[in-house]
Amino acid sequence: MQIIKDIDEMTACGETARAKGETVVLVPTMGFLHAGHVKLIETGKRQGSLLVLSIFVNPAQFGPKEDFNAYPRDIERDLKTAKEAGVDVVFIPDAAGMYRQGSRTFVTVEGLSERLCGRARPGHFKGVATVVLKLFNIVRPHKAVFGKKDFQQFVIIKRLAEDLNAGVEIVGVDTVREEDGLALSSRNTYLSPEERRAACAIPRALQAARQAAECGQRQSLAIIEKVREIIAKERVIAIEYVEICDPMTLEDVRRVEKEALLAVAARVGRTRLIDNTLIA
Ligand code: PAJ
Repeated sequence: MQIIKDIDEMTACGETARAKGETVVLVPTMGFLHAGHVKLIETGKRQGSLLVLSIFVNPAQFGPKEDFNAYPRDIERDLKTAKEAGVDVVFIPDAAGMYRQGSRTFVTVEGLSERLCGRARPGHFKGVATVVLKLFNIVRPHKAVFGKKDFQQFVIIKRLAEDLNAGVEIVGVDTVREEDGLALSSRNTYLSPEERRAACAIPRALQAARQAAECGQRQSLAIIEKVREIIAKERVIAIEYVEICDPMTLEDVRRVEKEALLAVAARVGRTRLIDNTLIA
């Protein structure tokens, strides 16, 4: 497994692989790898012949009061996980190289970035879209793999790739969960045992919503109310939003006539968690 820290070296590596006829697949992450990331790597490996994993805790996507400094990091463990998962190249740029002094260009995916998580995290998706386009330009992959656990991010990146002719195929991977249903997240390490127990009310509520829709409940408000009720039973959880929207445009859906996205964000203690499911 090759480890590359230098941006120009990464570009040269991607270009050389391309010229040799390899299919380059990029899996962008912020590290502290878990089984969700590993599933992205495994999916990526089946999609091409050179798997590049990027690890970069991107300062541009954290708000001033958010957890950039506290974000969990363990590069040694990540390198071990990456090697075991069969990663070919790990790209670990530093912030000074990624955001040179004087840089002023940002990518905004309008309309999609302000919805759902965008309301509480203004500027977040601008930071995500910018770093992802930079990674595409640096690595020059044919394909890039993203998790649907961050469904809004997935939709935004798909839009960006299409709108800006990035020439990168975006591959989506279903959410990997713990046995009790909690979606894997690097931020789960912040949870106390009590919060960890309470947090599984979120996937439980999503499951109940799926069942209600399957049983014929079409009213978004009724489904949302059910989700809120289940989560509200846990006193350590404060709901930020529960919304049902179109999975492409992220616009609100009042009646569930076709497949819709049910998305939740909540604070469990001080930890912000998100989860979602498709309902129909
Ligand atoms: P990070 O949170 O490290 O996630 C990296 C990728 O792993 C994302 O595509 C995310 O959706 C996916 N992922 C995380 N948890 C998952 C789970 N339980 N199941 C399936 N996939 C999961 O998302 C980011 O980093 C950053 O915003 C990034 C795209 C790297 C840009 O900085």
